[in-house]
Amino acid sequence: MPLDKKYDSMLAYYQEASFNPVPISVEDEGVWRDHLAKRGNLYTGSLGIPVGLLKGRKVLEFGCNSGENALALAHHGADLTLVEPNKQVHPRLRQLFERFNLSDQIISLSSESISGFTSDKKFDLVIAEGFLFCLPDRRELIGRLAGFLDEGGFLVVSWNDRYGMLIEQIKRLFLWRGCALLREDPQSETSLKTAQLLFGEDFDRLNASRSLPVWWKDMLVQPFIVDEWHWSYDELLRLVEEAGCELHSTSPRWPLADHYRWYKNVRSTSERHEAIFHEWNRSFLFFLTGRSFPHLAQTPASEEVVKGTAKLIAALSLYGSTDGVESDLVAVKWSGELDSWLRSFGDSFIDAFADDLQELLNAVKTDSFDQLVESYSKAKTFRKLWGTPYHYLSCRKLA
Ligand SMILES: C[S@@+](CC[C@H](N)C(=O)[O-])C[C@H]1O[C@@H](n2cnc3c(N)ncnc32)[C@H](O)[C@@H]1O
Repeated sequence: MPLDKKYDSMLAYYQEASFNPVPISVEDEGVWRDHLAKRGNLYTGSLGIPVGLLKGRKVLEFGCNSGENALALAHHGADLTLVEPNKQVHPRLRQLFERFNLSDQIISLSSESISGFTSDKKFDLVIAEGFLFCLPDRRELIGRLAGFLDEGGFLVVSWNDRYGMLIEQIKRLFLWRGCALLREDPQSETSLKTAQLLFGEDFDRLNASRSLPVWWKDMLVQPFIVDEWHWSYDELLRLVEEAGCELHSTSPRWPLADHYRWYKNVRSTSERHEAIFHEWNRSFLFFLTGRSFPHLAQTPASEEVVKGTAKLIAALSLYGSTDGVESDLVAVKWSGELDSWLRSFGDSFIDAFADDLQELLNAVKTDSFDQLVESYSKAKTFRKLWGTPYHYLSCRKLA
């Protein structure tokens, strides 16, 4: 059952529901410490941008929402230019900075969108976190964002990764199918209760910053969590290079292409990107499952395996899209290429994962809501995994 209502943009979706997608109660001392530790881990630990070096640096953040992440940068002494078109969240942002005595760190707060914002200044760090992938001109925007950088400055972007989304899209499919069988809108209270029934137990075990209702609203029933708006490294690495930048680091941190190398053996940007992309094929299992399997030789995923997986994910996401219809379930078919590759590892856990995937894709076609829930609960290996739906990269502006 498609959504009753269509939305022009993710921004319109948030605004209409007065929904804050990333509510973090940093006013609470314990939450603030935890938030600082997580943001420090993201920047210093994963993205290779030490927060200790941010003092006095010029930072431009697009889509900062109510400013909880910007607050952490201000805490480390960054000078902030903030751009957030959703004016509903500006009052909370101002209040937060006042409360933390960090208002002086805000150089300006604009309500322009990323496309409308202009500046004569260049910045040391430009951030577009949590929304860029949903914009129709996202390819051009990577170049536009890099244009705000000083030479040697860093750009940070995040996206919903096509392949990392496999597990999340199956969860989404089960929820949307459940809603169709109950004849309920995916945005209804019943849908939230169904998400709780299907995923609540597993979600409680996760070290998530957000509650299940927020995850439900922002991921499971959000109209922009569909294949059209997924992104992946093959496209992003090319765009980064075209924008005159070089990949610096990632979160999760998966490329090993820089490891075990003598620093004097300098590669060109394209040579290094190529090596990283080769590494991506070898990390495909991590992208799909969210787990590393260090005891296994990492057989690279061939082009056919990647294509077969992409086709499956597109079919999964079609049902959970605003235009999805019952007949779209026919397109949901297990990928033979992916199956053979997964089974080639000869590992019992990965075999059980492949079994679960295959069974879930059949089970979702049932006409009984109770059977749907029962089949999902039986997928014990699948239920232990969360994939890697959300990725970040940092890149450096070249001379
Ligand atoms: C999911 S929230 C992410 C908030 C924060 N950056 C984070 O990652 O936690 C997406 C934010 O991007 C903003 N946004 C949406 N479209 C935008 C656009 N075209 N230009 C700038 N910001 C936009 C939304 O208003 C929202 O505050």
